[in-house]
Amino acid sequence: MTRLRHFLSLADWTPEEVEALVLEAARMKAEWKAGIRPSLLAGKTLGMLFEKPSLRTRVSFEMAMRHLGGDAIYLSPQEVGLGKRESVADVARVLSRYVDAIMARVFAHAVLEELARYATVPVINGLSDDEHPCQALGDLLTIYEKKGRLRGLRLAFVGDGNNVATALLYACAMTGMDFAIATPPGYMLKESVIERGKAFAAHSGSRLTFTHDPIEAVRGADVIYTDVWTSMGQEAEAEIRRRIFPPYQVNQALVAQAKPDVIVMHCLPAHRGEEITDEVADGPHSVIFDQAENRLHAQKALLVRLLAEAP
Ligand code: CP
Ligand code: NVA
Repeated sequence: MTRLRHFLSLADWTPEEVEALVLEAARMKAEWKAGIRPSLLAGKTLGMLFEKPSLRTRVSFEMAMRHLGGDAIYLSPQEVGLGKRESVADVARVLSRYVDAIMARVFAHAVLEELARYATVPVINGLSDDEHPCQALGDLLTIYEKKGRLRGLRLAFVGDGNNVATALLYACAMTGMDFAIATPPGYMLKESVIERGKAFAAHSGSRLTFTHDPIEAVRGADVIYTDVWTSMGQEAEAEIRRRIFPPYQVNQALVAQAKPDVIVMHCLPAHRGEEITDEVADGPHSVIFDQAENRLHAQKALLVRLLAEAP
């Protein structure tokens, strides 16, 4: 019997496993585009628990299961009442009797850890307040496709040191990409996250830059990445963040400071006119919709890996 694996943080997997997932995702994408339709997950069902809204995560996971001959069930916050109507532990125990894997989008990362503690099927992080590993997996696939490699590239994240930035730091530090992040003072990545990133970088040779200067971050960048200034659950801070973050907008002037062939990425949804201008989001450097599509392909590789490994 193989060990039950979860996917709560990119940092819980080895760099070799993450790279293998990216290569497998690229292979499965090519296969899909060529019209090959293997039913690798026939008879398998993914339960999808959501405490927060979603477009990409919900639809890409559901379609990934369908494309592979499996099924998915969407469970809204209202019907499950995770930790309110029923304890997180009991939800994990019950769902494990019905489905073959659980994908959950939550506020507190600890809820995912509790689901994983009590579930007897793999648990996947579909975004928590701390991390968005499925997004980072799709992003690695996008960068690999656009640039033909990962190692040695420089990714600059400009904006809030949030869940998406956390996963990207791990993704870069694990795969040998240089990572620079520019945030306003007070919005940097957590110290524990930076330490974990540094440990991966020490092995891979990635150079890490933590700054408050967006121009310093994007100079020489192959990839510029941004995300919303106010994440889900932080709505009460939206006004103050809107006053603090404008110097960190990804606009044409900032893009001009990077390499001429820089690609611009955003996990979406975008607040156009805030963290990114229309001109950049719809401009020649933008790869944001390929990036959204790649969530589907990356998650197919992840699902096959996890479900094939489940006991
Ligand atoms: N990028 C992403 O996770 O999008 P959704 O919030 O729409 O799922
Ligand atoms: N940082 C954003 C990402 C949304 C996909 C949030 O947590 O709301």
